[in-house]
Amino acid sequence: MVAVSLSKVSKNFDQTEVIRDVSIDVNQGEFCVFVGPSGCGKSTLLRLIAGLEEPTNGKIAIDGEDVTFVDPATRGIGMVFQNYALYPHMTVEENMSFGLRMNNTPKPEIEKKVSEAAKMLRLSELRKRKPASLSGGQRQRVAIGRALVKGAKVFLFDEPLSNLDAELRVEMRIEITRLHRELGATIIYVTHDQTEAMTMADKIVVLRDGHVEQKGKPLDLYNNPVNKFVAGFIGSPSMNFLKGKIIKNDLIIPSLGNLIVKKNFMLNKNISEITVGIRPHDISLKKSGKEHKIEFIENLGNVSFCHFKLQDSSNLIAESSTKLAFASQDMVGILLKEKDIYFFNNKSGARIT
Ligand SMILES: Nc1ncnc2c1ncn2[C@@H]1O[C@H](COP(=O)(O)OP(=O)(O)OP(=O)(O)O)[C@@H](O)[C@H]1O
Ligand SMILES: [Mg+2]
Repeated sequence: MVAVSLSKVSKNFDQTEVIRDVSIDVNQGEFCVFVGPSGCGKSTLLRLIAGLEEPTNGKIAIDGEDVTFVDPATRGIGMVFQNYALYPHMTVEENMSFGLRMNNTPKPEIEKKVSEAAKMLRLSELRKRKPASLSGGQRQRVAIGRALVKGAKVFLFDEPLSNLDAELRVEMRIEITRLHRELGATIIYVTHDQTEAMTMADKIVVLRDGHVEQKGKPLDLYNNPVNKFVAGFIGSPSMNFLKGKIIKNDLIIPSLGNLIVKKNFMLNKNISEITVGIRPHDISLKKSGKEHKIEFIENLGNVSFCHFKLQDSSNLIAESSTKLAFASQDMVGILLKEKDIYFFNNKSGARIT
């Protein structure tokens, strides 16, 4: 069943259209992640779903009911922001129960809900503390607790982990995934973080300039991006893009010493230049064939990222096993496999298959 449905939603601020014709269905219990560059409209979309903004055009439905112009308070949405927006003068339990106290929920019911949520979020010991005396991760859990206590049907998270250090991010990532599983809640989650998007999402929506470039399962987007933008956005480090030329029906890469990557390429099409995409992981380096210099190398322990500056000054990153012990300034050969290569239209960026 569809929990949240956006149909042909647009939003203008003054004359500027910041959301353009967006249609997305988020299923009941689904973990849906919005990704895209800064300013592409992720937060605006969440605010539209929460009812903090009204769309200029289009329709928003929750559980099949049109809520486009319905008051935010009655939409059954819990929103968790990057800065948590906790009340500093209230304790953990007061913060969590604020919404219920405002609408005069009976005390025993409030206590039951707060204690359940506190237990689930491992906040029981901290109920009498104020936000200032909590860690970032604990504050984050209070903010989630507030949405839980409200009985939200849909949780919206706007970059909730971006204020936390790396270790805590991993911990909270696991925590939120666990909550999602236990509650079976519908979650819409905005992040800049590749790993969060790939590991947490059932569905990823890639946005650019206020519209949807592609949506689907994380691995589908990774393996089958529809265009150069999605290919470059999903995956870390990003896919490499190089100029490809078609000469006498063969596709060659000039910056790799005219390496032939595909014979008899697109015989009948009137295109002579395309963009070639290859993921760092799909490039092999060999010690023989010393055509290319490793400008610098990042050793991450298990893998190394080797950075190259090619003849036409384009950049290339190749992943190699640290065991191969390459070093900066080494001269190496670069090997690509035809099956790993993606092709994109030079002008539109559309994938050519
Ligand atoms: N109230 C507003 N009035 C005018 N323009 C706005 C308003 N809110 C957002 N915008 C503009 O809408 C666009 C989308 O903003 P939004 O905050 O949704 O982006 P975002 O994808 O969340 O970016 P970030 O990743 O930086 O948080 C931006 O160009 C922003 O300047
Ligand atoms: Mg934002």
